[in-house]
Amino acid sequence: PYPVFAQMRRDTPVCQVEPGGLWAVTRYADVVSVLKDPQLFSSAGLAHSMEPPWLGYNPLARSLLVMDPPRHGRSRSLVSRAFTPTAIARLEPFLRATAERLVDEMLERQEVDFMRALALPLPAAAIGHLLGLDTSIHSHLKVWSDHLAIISAISTADHERQQQVQRSIQEMEGYLKEVVEQRRRQPGNDLVSALLEARVEGEALSDAELMNFLFALLAAGLETTTNLLGNVALLLADRPELLERLRAEPGLFASFVEEVLRYESPAQSTFRLTTAEAELGGVKLPAHSVLVLLLNSACRDEQYVPDAESFVLGRQDLVNIPFGHGIHFCLGAPLARLEARVALEALLPRIRSMSRGPEAPQWQRSIQVRALVQLPVRVIP
Ligand code: HEM
Repeated sequence: PYPVFAQMRRDTPVCQVEPGGLWAVTRYADVVSVLKDPQLFSSAGLAHSMEPPWLGYNPLARSLLVMDPPRHGRSRSLVSRAFTPTAIARLEPFLRATAERLVDEMLERQEVDFMRALALPLPAAAIGHLLGLDTSIHSHLKVWSDHLAIISAISTADHERQQQVQRSIQEMEGYLKEVVEQRRRQPGNDLVSALLEARVEGEALSDAELMNFLFALLAAGLETTTNLLGNVALLLADRPELLERLRAEPGLFASFVEEVLRYESPAQSTFRLTTAEAELGGVKLPAHSVLVLLLNSACRDEQYVPDAESFVLGRQDLVNIPFGHGIHFCLGAPLARLEARVALEALLPRIRSMSRGPEAPQWQRSIQVRALVQLPVRVIP
């Protein structure tokens, strides 16, 4: 998509994709100015499209991701009491053990689909562990999160899909309610217990708010991190010199991950709705326009970083546009970074090389995510 985005940034930085349709925003400065102004560019206004009449209740449509101020601030400060850097750091030993096991299994087979071997199961284990789900359910999380992601795209006539999605939401709610009840009876040193205990000015999360937040973690934290890990592996497979350099200098892992995030931004876009007439990049937008903010175009804007179309290891002072900006800035960014670092630390010392397998990698056709669905690789121990 990148040559098209470059052309759009140059010629039509704020443009309507089709008459009466979405407005695409491709420049860094415009994306940031939208994200800075949640009153004029609302997230909550998009909730109804996530809760079509056939579905009724969708916990995700009532989560942090689709709230505006002042509700957003209250809810975010409550969950932030529990979702702390310390809570995330506590996950490291579990993530490390999981990553090492997955890499060992990969090395036994040598020719694997990296997505299924590591990029998906590691983030699924992370989210499953955070939500307090039994390990036997971790491999099922992808089905649930895929179902949550397609809700607004399902047609009113597609009853089969509708039922699948309804079933997924009910199943997940059932499991999560059990976990919450168990933690209420017997609090532990885990995220759900901390969420139950969180207070801001004496107020706690309601049961519904807690459930909506747990759903948001699944929707926001699984696929994005899977994409990041896939994009990391693709770069390593295509550029053996990068792999060698990282192996020699593990101190570069963090800056490598930041550059992968920028170069192949895993959350390709996010959406907003104008609450009144607005002006953006010299273009007038009517009230109730839906905007798609192309984060991965913004990441390759020369206004953001010099030589933006090149992968440059060791860039300094990147701001975090792949994780958004402003009040909705990704709550899980430290966890995503931790997962990527742990994956590299498990992988690099165990492999001599990693190259592309016989089949070509496959990208998902989507404007929402920059996602590999398949990445065949050959790893040599
Ligand atoms: C929000 C990206 C991983 C939880 C966001 C947003 C972006 C993003 C762009 C802002 C959306 C908007 O403004 O509309 C990413 C990327 C990830 C990642 C690229 C991985 C590489 C995670 C993980 C979790 C998580 C692992 C949690 C387990 C959240 C939550 C929000 C959010 C809860 C909503 C925050 C709010 O509305 O205040 N993420 N994310 N994310 N992310 Fe992430």
